[in-house]
This record gives sequence, structure tokens and C-alpha cells, in this order.
Amino acid sequence: MLKKSPTIFFGVIFITMSLLSGCQMGDSSQMSKSEQRRMQSTFNSLQESHRAALQQFKKDSASMSDDIKILYLQMQEMHKQMSMNHRHMMSGHDNKGMGMQQDNKQMRKRRQMRRQIQNRMSREWYGQMQSMHNQMARRHEQMSHPKRARQHRKMGEGYGKMKKMVPSNDESSKEPVNENADPAFLNGANLYTQYCASCHGTDAKGIGKVFPPLVNSKWITGEKSVPVRIVRDGVSGEIQVSGKIYNGTMPPFKARLSMAEIAAIINYLRDSSDGDHPHITQDDVIEISKTYQNRNNPWQPEELLGE
Ligand code: HEC
Repeated sequence: MLKKSPTIFFGVIFITMSLLSGCQMGDSSQMSKSEQRRMQSTFNSLQESHRAALQQFKKDSASMSDDIKILYLQMQEMHKQMSMNHRHMMSGHDNKGMGMQQDNKQMRKRRQMRRQIQNRMSREWYGQMQSMHNQMARRHEQMSHPKRARQHRKMGEGYGKMKKMVPSNDESSKEPVNENADPAFLNGANLYTQYCASCHGTDAKGIGKVFPPLVNSKWITGEKSVPVRIVRDGVSGEIQVSGKIYNGTMPPFKARLSMAEIAAIINYLRDSSDGDHPHITQDDVIEISKTYQNRNNPWQPEELLGE
């Protein structure tokens, strides 16, 4: 009897733990009600700042240079996509009713997985908005618009805060691993959806006038170093893609994607394009990254040509 009691004791603990992890409280992908409220109110105040910044810009856009007009256009496009994503994520956290009895374990698991993906996408989006506004703040500073620079700096901070509010204890929040991965075993399509589809579209055919297509783009199918350099450090300025001119800014991904992941995404896009394009290996990416390791700002399209 005495010998058995530790077994019972641990058994009880075990059952309690599994019960807890089964219900919402133990689910680390889920925001509590108060976290949701905090998130939503930060979002609402950013919406207001966004409207104010746009209004201000429209009032005196005549005196603005073309490159800043493009930044505002891109900000609007990104804002639209980000807001859609935000609403989607929030509805995933808003579990209507407790439904614990009707919900079976499998359903809960599936919902949790969906939420983790959504959380990851949202962190990505808020991060993109953050760097977008920081970029705009820098540009306004250069043009001696301190007030507007401050406004964008603050919005950047707001998105930084949002990014931190999204639960991130799923495994995808780990730092990118650069060693010992074979791109062939990674799912390029999933990685594409997670990191690139927000701007380039789920079908990689581009969105509107700001985000160019990637399927059949010569920047993807060309010499290996070209797409790798673009994904690592981003690209900015006038660029011709499949006969159309674009002029925006793509953020760098080298801090977010491992070498193998970069290769897997590009290989997926090369495979989806017409013709035969040799696969890029992790070693290729490592080699190219070494050559351009001191690069710290987005590429200008003309720098990527003819090397
Ligand atoms: C925040 C939005 C955004 C995200 C996310 C993004 N891009 Fe881009 N990308 C752009 C923009 C804007 C341009 C055009 C830049 C310009 O006009 O100079 C671009 C251009 C490109 C180009 C060169 C032009 C073309 O269409 O071929 C490639 C290649 C590219 N992106 C690949 C990727 C890949 C791969 C990912 C995911 C790892 C990605 N991008 C994620 C915004 C984004």
C-alpha cells in the first residue's frame, strides 16, 4: 500500500496535467481575453495613426518626391493585407463558447495548429509593418520632416509591441538554424506561404501594382546568386518583372530564414516556373552569403544584373 502511493500520487498529477493541457488554459497558442483586449486596443490606435498619417500625406503629397509617394502606396497595400490577417487571427483566438464537452481532442488539436500558423503569420506581418514604418521614419528624417518621422517611428514601435503580444511558444519561433539541413527535406511550399505569400500572393503571381509576381520571374529563375541575394537582403527601387515596372521595397529575410529554408523556398518557385532550373543547395546559399556578408541594405535591381 505504501509502495503504491507514489504511483498514485504521480498518477493524479499526470491526469491533472493532461486535463489542464487539454483545455484552453494550458494551450500556449491561445491569447487570454485580456490579452485579446490589449491587442485589439493597440491595433485600433494604430488604425487611427494610419488614417492620420494618410490624411496628412494626401494634404501635401504634391510637394513630395516620387520615392516617398511609393512608400505611402506600399504602406497602404501592406496595411490592407495586415488588417485582413489581423482580423483572421483575432477570430481564431475568440473561441466562442467554451465548448469543452462537445469538442473532442482532435478538433482542439487542429484548432490549436491552425492558431499557431496564424500566430506565426501575424508576427511576420507586424514585423513587416514595423520595418516599413521605420523605413518611412528614416526617409522623413532625411527630408527634415521631424514631426512625421516621429509619427512613423511611433507606429513602428506600436507594431513591434503587437508582434510581442502574439503568443510565440510554438516551435516556429526558434531562431533559424543554419546547420545540417537539406533543403530537399523542407517543405518549400509551406515556407513560401508563411513568409512570402502575404506580399506576393498565395499563387506567387503578385498583388496589385506594388508586389511583383515570382513565378516565371527572371529574378527567381536566373543565376543562383540573384534570388538568394534578394531574399537575404531585400530589394528596393525600380525593377522590371515580366514586362511590368514595380518600385517598392522588399525587406531582408536573412535574420529570419535559415540557409536551407532560403534554398527550399527558391527551389519551390523555380520548380513552379516554366523551364528547367537547377536546384540551389544549402552550400550554394552559404557560399553566396559569405561573398556578400557585409551587405547591409536592400539591393538595387541594377546591382543584381550582369555579374
Ligand atoms: C513585405 C512584403 C514582401 C514580402 C513579405 C516579400 N516580398 Fe519579395 N518583394 C516585395 C516587393 C515590394 C518587391 C519589389 C521591390 C522593388 O520594387 O524593387 C519584391 C521583389 C521580390 C523579388 C524580385 C522581383 C520579382 O518579382 O521576382 C523576388 C525574387 C522576391 N521579392 C522574392 C521574395 C521571396 C522569396 C519572399 C519570401 C521569402 C518575399 N519576396 C517576401 C515585397 C515583399
